[in-house]
Amino acid sequence: MEKLLEIKEIKVSYGLKTVLEGIDFNIDYKEIVSIVGESGSGKTTLARSIINLLPDGARATSQTCFFDHRDLNKLSKEEWRNMRGSEIAYIFQNPSSYLNPIIRIGKQFLESIRSHRNISKAEAIQKVKSVLKKMHFKDIDQIMNAYPYQLSGGMKQRVAIAMALVMEPKLIIADEPTSALDAMTQNQIASEIMAYRDDFETSFIIVTHNLGYAATLSDRIMVMRAGKVIEFDTKSKIILAPQKAYTRVLLDAIPVLKGHGI
Ligand SMILES: Nc1ncnc2c1ncn2[C@@H]1O[C@H](COP(=O)(O)OP(=O)(O)O)[C@@H](O)[C@H]1O
Ligand SMILES: [Mg+2]
Repeated sequence: MEKLLEIKEIKVSYGLKTVLEGIDFNIDYKEIVSIVGESGSGKTTLARSIINLLPDGARATSQTCFFDHRDLNKLSKEEWRNMRGSEIAYIFQNPSSYLNPIIRIGKQFLESIRSHRNISKAEAIQKVKSVLKKMHFKDIDQIMNAYPYQLSGGMKQRVAIAMALVMEPKLIIADEPTSALDAMTQNQIASEIMAYRDDFETSFIIVTHNLGYAATLSDRIMVMRAGKVIEFDTKSKIILAPQKAYTRVLLDAIPVLKGHGI
């Protein structure tokens, strides 16, 4: 079966420095894939190259890049703008960086949705509320009326995911979405992401430095080191039968798995 996204031979350079080379990536429809590796291994660069969102001065190429039967290497700037947000959404580590502190959450939802979809305000409100309901948000009116500072870090990140899901993208890419949050909230959001995949039929790419976290929610895991792919396989293969010494090093660093015979 055809993949949702299939990219071959990704290469990214910042100026003269090549940071990613020879990377093949793919994800299925309704699949959760994690990209795991230590800081500086190239996770963010890979995630951003997928959505053509690298900083100025970066140069990314790939031999082939197909998303939902379309050749992304042939998209114009305008087509990329339409693609981002509506078909592929990107969630940053720190939701404060894209939630405007002086605008109520509800208004930000409406501005975001109406910048991509030509629908009335009433329709947009309806859509936002139905997504929040599907995501099991309680006190929806209270959240819509709140300013970002009135929400906890976990709630802000859930709101950011909701803003992405409202657009019904086929793929959501989240860069360290919960790394700044406590373990309980991280686990809660992990199980919610798995439920959203089922409810919204969305694929997720989760970037994380934490292999233990990746193991809680992923179907497949890509392990990266120094701009290269070490292993890319099903979760059970990576966790229970890692092929590479470096993957075993990462596994040994997971405290909860240690001493449990896993
Ligand atoms: N804007 C940039 N300019 C130059 N080098 C960068 C830039 N962003 C990242 N790098 C370099 O690219 C490599 C990969 O970084 P990054 O993708 O941020 O890794 P990770 O997300 O795994 O921590 C690192 O060596 C980093 O120093
Ligand atoms: Mg990063």
